[in-house]
Amino acid sequence: MTVAAVLVAAGSGSRLGHELPKAFVPLGGVPLVVHAARSLLASGAVSSLVVVVPADRIADARAALADLPCPVAVVAGGAARQASVAAGLAALPDEADVVLVHDAARPFPPADLVDRVIEAVRAGHPAVVPALPVTDTIKRVGPGDGTGEPVLQTVPRGALRAVQTPQGFARDVLVAAHAAAAGSAHDESTAASDDAGLVEAQGVPVWVVPGDERAAKVTTPSDLSLAALRAPDAS
Ligand code: CTP
Ligand code: MG
Repeated sequence: MTVAAVLVAAGSGSRLGHELPKAFVPLGGVPLVVHAARSLLASGAVSSLVVVVPADRIADARAALADLPCPVAVVAGGAARQASVAAGLAALPDEADVVLVHDAARPFPPADLVDRVIEAVRAGHPAVVPALPVTDTIKRVGPGDGTGEPVLQTVPRGALRAVQTPQGFARDVLVAAHAAAAGSAHDESTAASDDAGLVEAQGVPVWVVPGDERAAKVTTPSDLSLAALRAPDAS
């Protein structure tokens, strides 16, 4: 089986609020998207990368990713993550039959996490997500009055999982799920927030393997401070 990865890096990073798009914000002098690409390749199981970036960043990204030890295609993303993943899928090499989809916003997924996802796809699961148990108490709330919201229910959390990336798929399953949902791909309010959700909607079973705290997502400035502690050159 040949594994390719789609690395989505075309978001603006509005919640991070940096002057650069989030994937291009440096940690230790290296942009998050380059950290993420190196992390995906560290296990040796990924043969090629498709990196999806804002249209005006293609040349920058090609230069930043030039030293990676595998073929790298850089393509323009869309208005929502789902559209960016779809653009990446369209640029996959013919020989790839397993596809990882990973967020550049998760710069440091450990190699053993990447391997765990790939192994589960190889073992026959058509869609695999890494996930962690939820540690906070979760409550469902109703409409608020501007000062607060009423609790409707405390949700039992034993069976809840917080899902990470990279997510792994049999290529044909993921391509079919994106094709079926293409109509809702371009608007954040209708697009899916993860790829496994699209596959689930096709009735395909999705398998969960253990996630890893080190694959945490950078969303806010405090997440970026935390990620800086995980950068390889951090002491
Ligand atoms: N992404 C993308 N194309 C988009 C939106 C998001 O490729 N149109 C990517 C981001 O670059 C990121 C991943 O999807 O690597 C997860 O998205 P998120 O964390 O929401 O990043 P942003 O959309 O950039 O951030 P924000 O929502 O705060 O603007
Ligand atoms: Mg976003």
